[in-house]
Amino acid sequence: MPVVSQQTVQALRRAVRSRLPPWFARRARALPWRAEPRQPYAVWISEMMLQQTRVETVIPYFRRFLARFPDPAALAAAPLQDVLKLWEGLGYYSRARHIHQTARILVRDFGGRLPADPAQLAALPGLGPYATAAIASLAFGQPLAVLDGNVMRVLARLAALDDDIGLAATKKKLQELADALLLRDKPGTVNEAWMELGALVCTPRSPRCGECPLHGTCRAAKLKTPEAFPRKKKKEKIPHKIVGAAVILNRKNQILIAQRNPEGGMLAGLWEFPGGKQAKGETMRQCIRRELQEEMGLDLEVGAHLVTVHHVYSHFTIDLHAHFARIRSGRPRHLECAGHAWVTPAEFDRYPFSKADHGIIHAIRALPQPPHLRDYFK
Ligand code: ADE
Ligand code: SF4
Repeated sequence: MPVVSQQTVQALRRAVRSRLPPWFARRARALPWRAEPRQPYAVWISEMMLQQTRVETVIPYFRRFLARFPDPAALAAAPLQDVLKLWEGLGYYSRARHIHQTARILVRDFGGRLPADPAQLAALPGLGPYATAAIASLAFGQPLAVLDGNVMRVLARLAALDDDIGLAATKKKLQELADALLLRDKPGTVNEAWMELGALVCTPRSPRCGECPLHGTCRAAKLKTPEAFPRKKKKEKIPHKIVGAAVILNRKNQILIAQRNPEGGMLAGLWEFPGGKQAKGETMRQCIRRELQEEMGLDLEVGAHLVTVHHVYSHFTIDLHAHFARIRSGRPRHLECAGHAWVTPAEFDRYPFSKADHGIIHAIRALPQPPHLRDYFK
């Protein structure tokens, strides 16, 4: 069954052609990556940052990133740690690793520039269908229609598409609709106008249909139930993790930090206060002792509780319990980590940490004085 009747598609096409580009020209926000003429490098970096992250959050990161790495050659020449450090706090760190890998490929194979060919773009690390279409259209004028969460919401409302948005078949229908509504002479404008409409007017809650350029052709607005689209099945509960972390002091009052393995996985390559998930029946102190034995081959004495940090990640929530500890025996080995360093609280800033670990850093710095071994262990 077609999603939408051909009649509706034709009516929408006419409305899109006459109303969407002028609306975008009038209302588009002046975002730093939109400076004309569009720089493919700026488009690429911004699209990577904007996946999963809000525009207001991205703006300062984007500015710092382009100031520090003005082109693919500068990015390719930098150590990954520097790139992760600039990315710190943006989340989804695989994006930073992919950008870094891609910069090196661009220098090696493409003369330091992004290719305009969608197939070559799609083969680069971290470029899925969304990013490929966004970069190809915005930077190079290629006729590919983007589909992200915002665009799906706008299109599902325009067509009053009542299918469950979680299904692949629904996304396919919406991709077909996006393809049908793309203006081949200005694909970048249409794509970005959908995103802008989703951000400014056709918002998840209380869309401002009165200000919408497509109001007269929108089926959800006609039904007076725009918020009913797109339809979603109820989300399953996300898991909650209880994790212990050690703030290990040595005789110089330095603190041991460990680097997570850099290949794939959650927060890969970032630094942390070493530890791990509490097992059934374990106390928090037992958990921390076991984890440090497994991860770094250390036999610990675990002491006072420092802080418990609660953090909400996309796929789980975490309670991170930090305790002071000292080494009874052993030297740090990299059994289940990629590296370690002994650092003072002032030196934490040199290393990229995840948001939850920043809560521990904050608690350490909030102590009346830097922690000393003798204050916590006799
Ligand atoms: N989200 C993803 N790409 C965007 C863009 N170019 N402008 C605004 N929001 C976006
Ligand atoms: Fe969204 Fe309302 Fe515009 Fe329809 S009329 S696209 S529901 S803002």
